[in-house]
Amino acid sequence: MYREPVSSLQPLHVLPPAIARPLRVGMIGIGTVGSGTFRVLARNQAEIAGRAGRGIEIVIVAARNLARAAAIVGTGVALCDDPMTVATHPDVDVVVEVAGGCDPALGWVLAAIAQGKHVITANKALLALHGEQIFAAARAQGVAVAYEAAVAVSIPIVKALREGLTANRIEWVAGIVNGTTNFILSKMRDEGVGFAAALAEAQALGYAEADPAFDVDGIDAAHKIALLAATAFGTPVRFDDVQVEGIAALQRADVAGAEQLGFRIKLLAIARRREDGMELRVQPALLAADQLMANVNGAMNAVMVAADAAGLTMYYGAGAGSEQTASAVIADLVDVARLEGTKPSQRVPHQGFHCAAMRPLPVLPRGEVHCPHYLRLPLRAEMTVEAIAELLHSIGLTPKRVLSADTARPAALVLTAPTLQAELDAAVRALQVHPAVDGTVVALRVESLGG
Ligand code: HSE
Repeated sequence: MYREPVSSLQPLHVLPPAIARPLRVGMIGIGTVGSGTFRVLARNQAEIAGRAGRGIEIVIVAARNLARAAAIVGTGVALCDDPMTVATHPDVDVVVEVAGGCDPALGWVLAAIAQGKHVITANKALLALHGEQIFAAARAQGVAVAYEAAVAVSIPIVKALREGLTANRIEWVAGIVNGTTNFILSKMRDEGVGFAAALAEAQALGYAEADPAFDVDGIDAAHKIALLAATAFGTPVRFDDVQVEGIAALQRADVAGAEQLGFRIKLLAIARRREDGMELRVQPALLAADQLMANVNGAMNAVMVAADAAGLTMYYGAGAGSEQTASAVIADLVDVARLEGTKPSQRVPHQGFHCAAMRPLPVLPRGEVHCPHYLRLPLRAEMTVEAIAELLHSIGLTPKRVLSADTARPAALVLTAPTLQAELDAAVRALQVHPAVDGTVVALRVESLGG
């Protein structure tokens, strides 16, 4: 005879009776990320409460445009135009800061912490520049500061580093962490679209920062890699020391040149631990076309982590977008909802390591990076591959591959043997004044990220 199996699982809508009070959220900003958070919270209410063990309710929102905000949040949510009112509101347990910028956001966040409120922020600039001050204030008050949405939005990379990989000594963390520039580079390569048109499209899709120079100049990626390095290595956030190059100067001839050599250009953010410190850098670099990271296209992001026990792991997902970022904000809200009744000392530390275990790691100078390089040499006249190789040897470079570029004007494409950046820079200076060279020599790093 058939009998229905007896399940010990409770249906999703039955919440543990001990913690019935919902988590009360105050939100600062209701633009792309805030409105996405509101929509996803409303749509997946039961599912989210089932995971959090209690409801999550947005009780007050601060917005610049109250009419627009009212159209998003409807009735039942208080609205105001003063973020400080939200940061200090007695009915708020956790402040979600999705307004962006450092000033005045720092003041709101510190005020919320001083009032004993947890803080969730998608604001990578704020944490990259003021993270140490914010985390110290939060430790003193015993509140959480969570920032999953600040890095590679949809990808739970902070969670992976802070929790999933805690057994490991992490060797490096690297990847594509800016959706806008990856979108632009993909459009330039796949559709031959010009830089300005591709950027305009990324802005229209809501991927770019309020000031898109942050994306294009690599600053946004630098904010993110500074946070990832701190979380991966247990070192304070060192944004000022990140070596940053953006994609604004990148030419179509190099996108095509990389392609001709079997590579793709990606804006990579890299934090690599070495014996004497760490490399911390953002730069457009070549990756062999068959590497997984080279095939991350459009506004997608991917992060690879090399760890001693787990080995190489890779995380892939949307790098920008409204609900994609909301997904991370809400994951942090669920974590905060579960903190009720726990002691601060029992919680996952803000940056994965307990404060007493954090150690400053010096950032190594640019000249000490050691890797192969790509060169594009505009030539005064056609030269044989042998003659170009001889020229390179004469200035101390070891070429591994030399090709004639498929361009109207004579040019050589070169891949060098691994070379110290300081030596490469000296060689480029020598090439620049060589009589055979006619125009600016372009040099880019060639990276290998495994996989
Ligand atoms: N402007 C950012 C990007 C948004 O393009 O990646 C997400 O941080």
